[in-house]
Amino acid sequence: MIRGYIFDLDGVLVDTAKFHYLAWKRLAKEKFGYDFTIEQNEAFKGVNRVACMKILCGLADVQLSPEEFERGMQQKNDWYIEMVRGMTPADALPGAREYVERAKARGMLCAIGSASRNCRLALEKTALAPLFDAVADGTVVTRAKPDPEVFLRAAEMLGLAPAQCVVFEDSQAGLDAARAGGMTSCAIGSPDALHGWDFIAPGLDECPEIS
Ligand code: BG6
Ligand code: MG
Repeated sequence: MIRGYIFDLDGVLVDTAKFHYLAWKRLAKEKFGYDFTIEQNEAFKGVNRVACMKILCGLADVQLSPEEFERGMQQKNDWYIEMVRGMTPADALPGAREYVERAKARGMLCAIGSASRNCRLALEKTALAPLFDAVADGTVVTRAKPDPEVFLRAAEMLGLAPAQCVVFEDSQAGLDAARAGGMTSCAIGSPDALHGWDFIAPGLDECPEIS
């Protein structure tokens, strides 16, 4: 029986996926002089910061010193945080707050399972933080999705077995992680872009209750 919901943050609850994209795009242009596209950005979804930076360097065919690599990530993160700081409760994605509230009213335990190290800032800015019983994010795990570590950690924080949890995810890496962790998955997005899910909806505003 399903007792818990684990939500990815970026692109599922809040529209920060576009901020990540814009910050990487700016770095690609300013540091490497190329136009980073929305198609290339698909591979960055759900993937942690270091892994994204490695892909960005690979696309530019450039090898950076450890210091330059670190500086690039820091610059991207500064631009990203600047955008997140401007968020308000109105920036939760359509139906997201209501979906979590309804789940909680039915007795479902709710957690965050996100690769982001900026998770808490976005949760606070959008006033979503009080809705969650646990937060597993990039500050508490080391292995990037598709490794299931972040979701297993979230389930453990909720005191639930993986099979009692549903993961809501907009990235392929995250859906693969949910499957590897033995959880039910609900893809948020289009069936053209995502595969290997148990349920799918274009957004939480159109998502069925899963029990
Ligand atoms: C994930 C995003 O939630 O967090 C990725 O989907 C992002 O695109 C990752 O790279 C890491 O985020 P941050 O905020 O720690 O750089
Ligand atoms: Mg996401």
